[in-house]
Amino acid sequence: MERLDKILSEAGVCSRKDCARLARRGLITVDGLAVKNPADKIGENAKIEVDGEQVVRRREVVCIMNKPAGFVTSTEDDRSRTVMELLPEEMLRQKVVPAGRLDKDTEGLLVFTNNGELLHRLISPKSEIPKTYYVEHEGTITDASIRTAAQGVELKDGTVCKSAKIERLGEGRSTITITEGMYHQVKRMFAALGCHVTYLKRIQIGNVNLGDLQSSQVRELSEEERNALF
Ligand code: URA
Repeated sequence: MERLDKILSEAGVCSRKDCARLARRGLITVDGLAVKNPADKIGENAKIEVDGEQVVRRREVVCIMNKPAGFVTSTEDDRSRTVMELLPEEMLRQKVVPAGRLDKDTEGLLVFTNNGELLHRLISPKSEIPKTYYVEHEGTITDASIRTAAQGVELKDGTVCKSAKIERLGEGRSTITITEGMYHQVKRMFAALGCHVTYLKRIQIGNVNLGDLQSSQVRELSEEERNALF
């Protein structure tokens, strides 16, 4: 149960003060009945209407998408399709945004949330959340490349990356775990190691694994996964 004025201000409908005014005028109904007191406690499933319009109640949403190639990680773009187009209606209503970025041609795990604090944690370089990518590439990742990655790859522009862990899966196939999120970072790291990336997919962020989520599909995180991300 939550106060009516709190629900309405969180939903972005009106301020608490305006809620009192609207309630006095009989413009707010809960399950069809006018509510005059903005401090009234309202149940989770009650239908609230303000001036005849149903209120979409905000709840915290943390979800993941298996992003397909060809979509930009942006809320708007004039030229390309965006990941927002793949979100279910309910997520859009809850005003989730992508936490971090994947390149247009990169696939895989993308987190969305409407929790500003979590968003900040996920994108802040200070958080150093490990992110693992599956990489297909030209050339060979040698033992020396793995050691260099562990010590900190120097990119072609002179930037030195933090320690990263590369695992060789086979010829032209590796995984890399990094704790930063610089522009085109994985592609630039592999380029610095003499390996051009031909396919890139993020498979894990912190404790959250893409698992068998199909391309373009979205699922909400369990309470446990969400808490561990925090
Ligand atoms: N590194 C890249 O080069 N591209 C991505 O999309 C993510 C990490």
